[in-house]
This record gives sequence, structure tokens and C-alpha cells, in this order.
Amino acid sequence: MPPPAAAIFDAYGTLLNVHAPMAALAGRIGENWRQVSADWRMKQLEYSWVRSLTGPSEHQDFWRCTQDALDWVFARHGLADPGLHAELLEAYRACPAYPEAPAMLRALREAGLATAILSNGEPVMLATAVEAAGIADLLDDVLSVEAVGVFKPHPSVYRLAERRFGLHASVMAFVSANPWDTQAALVYGFQAIRVNRDGAPDEYNLRGAVPELTDLSALPALLSA
Ligand code: LAC
Repeated sequence: MPPPAAAIFDAYGTLLNVHAPMAALAGRIGENWRQVSADWRMKQLEYSWVRSLTGPSEHQDFWRCTQDALDWVFARHGLADPGLHAELLEAYRACPAYPEAPAMLRALREAGLATAILSNGEPVMLATAVEAAGIADLLDDVLSVEAVGVFKPHPSVYRLAERRFGLHASVMAFVSANPWDTQAALVYGFQAIRVNRDGAPDEYNLRGAVPELTDLSALPALLSA
């Protein structure tokens, strides 16, 4: 494989820690805050997939999916504090980057790679998040599915990266902590990489097919090898 000319990143869960908002407010959520946070994430993704599969008339942006998912989670887990609901959404808008992400992005750029996000997020939530996370200046672009009005893993989303950089997917790396996203990028033709921070089981037979990292720190060495 040729060394990639660009590294394309999933945002939520890969560069940005989506569980940080609930971790920060854990004391007000309860001992099962990790499960609540996992449920929030799964419902958010479920709503994105159901909207895309139902058809274009049902498309709403990822911020709306995030809000709807939090409503469901509050009902499911018997949470009722409207102040907490508002604070969680505000915290989600400013999800922090994983600690190693800024240095990793800097190293990739120093090695001559272009860097970008390709995310389900809508443009305003993404701009707010990368600014809050301190990585805005380390990215050549932030691409949103809103340009095509359908969520990942629809192939038209992955095509946005090819169009933006004028490069074939085969000369770009695609990095995601979401196995289904890694799988879709691999099928599309990217040099796909899975990030697996918590030792989650293999999915889609990715293990063996793509490199698996426990965090992002080894990525510059991997991509310039
Ligand atoms: C994203 C979602 C999948 O950032 O987390 O695209």
C-alpha cells in the first residue's frame, strides 16, 4: 500500500470523547452513568440509521438525533432534571478531544499528510466542537454529511473526502473508533484503521483486515511506515 496522502477522521468517539459529558456530570446521573452514556450514544446512532434508511424526507441533522436520543435516555433511566438535560447537551457541544489527538494531528501534518474530519455531525456542532477541543487549526477541513443529506455508512458520505482532496480513497487513510464506520470505509476503498480503546470484540472481521490501535498515538508512525 502506498503511504497515504491524507488522514480522514471520524469525529465523535474517535477524536472527540463522547462519554466525557456524562462523566463530568456523573454525580447527578447516578452510579450507572456509563450505561446511560452508552445508551445515549447507541440511540443517537440508531436514529441516524433509521432516518437514512427510511428516506430523504425523514432526514434530520445529527444534533437533532443527539437531542432525541437524550430525551429517550432520560425517559428510560428515570432522569427528570431539565437543568441536567440542558447541561449535558451543552457539554456535548464541547466534547473534549482525546488527550493524544492534538500531538497526533500535528505529527501527521509535519509528515506532509492532509488531515480532515468526515462526520455525521452538522456543520455548526462540528465547528463548535473542534474549536472547543483545540484542534481546529490542526485540520485542513471538517466535512459534514449535511453536504449529502444522508448519514454514514452511506457511500455518498465517504465520497465527500475524495471530492475534497481530489484523491482516490485508496491513497487516504480513514480512522474510526466505530467498527461499522471503519468497515464502510474499508468497503469504499480507504486504507481503513480501527481504534479500539476498551478492548471491544472484533466486528465485521476487521481484525486481520485493518490495523487496530488502542489509541491514536501510534497513528503517525503507522501511516508513515
Ligand atoms: C461521526 C459519528 C459516527 O462523527 O460519530 O460521524
